[in-house]
Amino acid sequence: MMVGPVSHLRFPMKPIQLFDPASSTYTYVLFDQLSRDALLIDPVDEQIDRDLATLREYGLKLVWTVETHAHADHITSAGRLAELAGAKTAAPLGCGIGTAGVQLQDGDTLKFGGEVLKALHTPGHTAGSMSFLWRNHVFTGDTLLINGCGRTDFQSGSAEALYRSLTQVLFALPDDTIVWPGHDYQGRSCSSIGREKTTNTRVAGKTEAEFVALMNSLNLPRPRRIDEAVPANLTSGLRHDADGALQMQPLPPSGAHQGTYAGDVSPELAWRWVQSGEAVMVDVRTDAEREWVGFVPGAVPVAWKQWPGMALNPAFDQQVREAAGGKKLVLLCRSGVRSVAAAKRATELGLEAYNILEGFEGDPDADAHRGRKGGWRFRELPWRQN
Ligand SMILES: [Fe+2]
Repeated sequence: MMVGPVSHLRFPMKPIQLFDPASSTYTYVLFDQLSRDALLIDPVDEQIDRDLATLREYGLKLVWTVETHAHADHITSAGRLAELAGAKTAAPLGCGIGTAGVQLQDGDTLKFGGEVLKALHTPGHTAGSMSFLWRNHVFTGDTLLINGCGRTDFQSGSAEALYRSLTQVLFALPDDTIVWPGHDYQGRSCSSIGREKTTNTRVAGKTEAEFVALMNSLNLPRPRRIDEAVPANLTSGLRHDADGALQMQPLPPSGAHQGTYAGDVSPELAWRWVQSGEAVMVDVRTDAEREWVGFVPGAVPVAWKQWPGMALNPAFDQQVREAAGGKKLVLLCRSGVRSVAAAKRATELGLEAYNILEGFEGDPDADAHRGRKGGWRFRELPWRQN
């Protein structure tokens, strides 16, 4: 029998798959067989002792924890693993997990020993969701499940985006790529791209329109732990400190604005509310501003004023009522001025309306440049440009 440092070459490299029965979540341990550097994908808070024991059992040093998205059904242990095991934390840029040390973009890689994990942006279940490729294994989170896929009806989900992520990103991988899902509810462990491409009843052989119609007709119950889990996951599972707690509370309008709208919220709190489905974000900037500067995925455009001449939008009242759909509103503009005027008007219409502090670009700095002193983009919350 061959022994010594090359003996690992004789064995296929496989992840260690661990299961949390309460949330049916799979956590994955990947490691370099020589250096013993390890990476954890989607660790679950309640399973931290199991995960630390697994690392000890295999003689591994945890160097990374990675999230596929901000989960709604369980809380991550990433923050605690960073403290206890010295791991670095990584999460998709578009998920608003501000505490993650590395904000991953499509194509980014994480190294552990001589091994490399590659991030694939696969939006749809949530706007920021990612899958991760390691050798011939793909970890698909809630994007692709075995004979299923993640839901798309909250957290800025989009059935259209999910269809494209499945058919153009994941199904473009070689057929023999092994699929390791974020959950399974029927005891199945893994699948392959070839098998899902041909047999996945949600997507195989379906057009985008058929897939979207199917996803929009699912009428799934709200996840039991969403109100607790999403906010906790936006801080890597760590509870807020005194500063964080303050920032995560709405503030009543002050001075002359007192009582004229529901309150001011930080960009982070606004995004948390949108992610948990309790608020709708309305972008009150002009079409031109959204086009040129960028926009927040899922925000409803209802201009307060419009070119030419920055005249008030005569359809504002009707459009903002429709956008709210019975939920509270968080209003975004360039720097938090128009959104106050719009929040006051929405309040007069009987809506619960909050102003998002700092706006999309924040105030200009000493050089008259915006985007460097606060605001949505500065705080690295999700946004896009056409
Ligand atoms: Fe999820």
